[in-house]
Amino acid sequence: MDLRLDGKIALVTGGSRGIGKGIAKAFVEAGAQVMITSRKAESCKEAAAELGEGAHFEAGNIGKSEDAERVISATLDRLGGLDILVNNAATNPYAGPTIDVDMPRWQKTLEVNLTAPLFWTQLAWNRAMKEHGGAVINIASVGGLATNPILGVYDITKAALLHLTRQLAAELGPTVRVNAIAPGLIKTDFARVLWEGERGDQVAKAYPLKRLGEPEDVAAAAVFFANDAASGWITGHTLVLDGGGLIGFERAG
Ligand SMILES: NC(=O)c1ccc[n+]([C@@H]2O[C@H](COP(=O)([O-])OP(=O)(O)OC[C@H]3O[C@@H](n4cnc5c(N)ncnc54)[C@H](OP(=O)(O)O)[C@@H]3O)[C@@H](O)[C@H]2O)c1
Repeated sequence: MDLRLDGKIALVTGGSRGIGKGIAKAFVEAGAQVMITSRKAESCKEAAAELGEGAHFEAGNIGKSEDAERVISATLDRLGGLDILVNNAATNPYAGPTIDVDMPRWQKTLEVNLTAPLFWTQLAWNRAMKEHGGAVINIASVGGLATNPILGVYDITKAALLHLTRQLAAELGPTVRVNAIAPGLIKTDFARVLWEGERGDQVAKAYPLKRLGEPEDVAAAAVFFANDAASGWITGHTLVLDGGGLIGFERAG
């Protein structure tokens, strides 16, 4: 099935590079008008120029409520609506045992990875989707389904994001569908230390599908969740997208 998003208006946080840019590109190719946002205006501008007609940008920090208001307003004013929200941007300022995390970094991780997706969804709902319907897609992580010696804090926020997805799906249906994607290791800047060099080869070998993920893999799933015909009866779902890592014989670390 050729999944189209013609006439749809989408907003992708963290759309200037990595997975977010991959999703924005796939949405533009499927016919949507796409607003991309990230902290650096210059990066957004470059990404939008590269994605061509159909891509627009408004810079903002997802953790700042005034930026969220401004980016949502820009989307409504300039593009004329908001049908699809992708909560993609996230942070990971701490690596180490969860028991040792300092409160500023704990708070920061919660704020950006959990509070921000809720706040952006509240704005999207109140200002557009409650009346016109829509789809929300949260980019979580397969880490939210397991434990990890050093990524516990980040994973806890992703586990909570998965439950936020279920909770909001129950609250916002039938008007809005809310789904999550839980990727394994994807080759982006964010995860570079986890996949560059031999470590990446080892992880790839442990995945039944024998390769690491690419932003395009996540983008294809996002188009599926954004398309009402393809996933019209799916809400509150988490799609594990990890080359089979979670169910493989070897645990990829
Ligand atoms: N890569 C992986 O292996 C992997 C695996 C599982 C889940 N994920 C999840 O996938 C999502 C995207 O990750 P990625 O790997 O694509 O990361 P990435 O390549 O580092 O890209 C992150 C994007 O988010 C933006 N961003 C970061 N902090 C922001 C903030 N506070 N406000 C607004 N924008 C912000 C960045 O641009 P600026 O710097 O300009 O703000 C950039 O556009 C995240 O939710 C991550 O947790 C990634």
